[in-house]
Amino acid sequence: MNSIKVDIQRLQREIDELALITEAEPPVVTRVLFSEADLRGREFVKKLCREAGLALRADAVGNIFARWDGANGKLPPVATGSHIDAIPNAGRYDGVVGVLGAIEAIRALKKAGHRPQRAIELIVFTAEEPTRFGIGCVGSRLLSGVLAPEKAAALQDRDGKSLDEWRQGAGYTGSLESVRLPKDGYAAFVELHIEQGPILERENTAIGIVEKIAAPSTLRMDLTGVGGHAGGTLMPGRRDALLAGAEIALAVERAVTSSGSPDTVGTTGVFRIEPGAVNSVPCRALLEIDVRDTKVATRDAALAQIETAAAEICQRRGVVLQAERVNVDPPAVCDAALVEMVTGVCRQLGVSHKKMTSRAYHDTLFMAQICPCMMIFIPCRGGVSHRPDEFSSPEQIETGVRVLAQTLARAAD
Ligand code: GLV
Ligand code: MN
Ligand code: MN
Repeated sequence: MNSIKVDIQRLQREIDELALITEAEPPVVTRVLFSEADLRGREFVKKLCREAGLALRADAVGNIFARWDGANGKLPPVATGSHIDAIPNAGRYDGVVGVLGAIEAIRALKKAGHRPQRAIELIVFTAEEPTRFGIGCVGSRLLSGVLAPEKAAALQDRDGKSLDEWRQGAGYTGSLESVRLPKDGYAAFVELHIEQGPILERENTAIGIVEKIAAPSTLRMDLTGVGGHAGGTLMPGRRDALLAGAEIALAVERAVTSSGSPDTVGTTGVFRIEPGAVNSVPCRALLEIDVRDTKVATRDAALAQIETAAAEICQRRGVVLQAERVNVDPPAVCDAALVEMVTGVCRQLGVSHKKMTSRAYHDTLFMAQICPCMMIFIPCRGGVSHRPDEFSSPEQIETGVRVLAQTLARAAD
């Protein structure tokens, strides 16, 4: 199958076109789940799938499936895919390379005259990013049974609008129970993605073969203090919610830097205060804290340390703390046979490669609960991601898509 030709010009044009479908001023990409931009992005992807001759369906939470039937309808299909939602102030490659790249891989396989035994199915996952509901990978969590439908139905955004309202407004109806897929319903799932770290570029390596995905977790802390006039409320006895939150954010940094593992990372990525007026003592602070590690033990110890510190800080400052573990997920291990398969593809194509760990999470983390999984990484400039200047070159993307296409062909044979 060396004759597979990736049309990188067309793919790059499509990536650039999708980047213009954004809630922000280009080149900034912001496509929050079920926003008008996300809905238009979905239409754009569906149009490309139709033009590629793929059969489309969507489930009740808006995961989109685009299928190329195989010669043997009795065999479980092979799946690939990623996401097109984008956090505020993002770039154009995160997730998108795994969606549009997969469409190009299928087009290239078709053009080369390949006919797979198994169906090849592209999945465009709903809400890989946690922006709308504070929890990432909502679609793949539901598909894999990691998130119970009743818990999903209870999800609300910061304005109190529920997942049910959002999905139904977007035209995705039906019961959330129906989203779950059977175990081993897919023979394999392979996700192409930018690395979102600096290693491949630094080592001048074309492909990262992911063996493991680090374990993510999220804490939400709602702090209620006592507000008041910034001039009239003297400093003794103040119960300032922001100051308690600030101490908590520093405690997060302390906990992860003293964990004993260089892989523990912690980020207070959301910190909102009320009433948000310069002349008013903050009466409320809402923090969302992301803690990850390749090892569960050090991640969990850091989580516990942060929770203990937060309780102490809030008690000392007279602030009421409501803390919640939004998600605490295990790491995922990629399938050894698929790791070998992608390694073989890279060797056959003469492409430099290395085995690595994904420090970012991906829908693969949850797909790994129901089928053998694998991820293919390509370099991104400076390791930069979740920023408008995120960049992978057309050559880097082309190599990734060639490796994906060959892998899909082998896995579907
Ligand atoms: C995915 O977007 C992540 O935050 O790892
Ligand atoms: Mn992302
Ligand atoms: Mn992503």
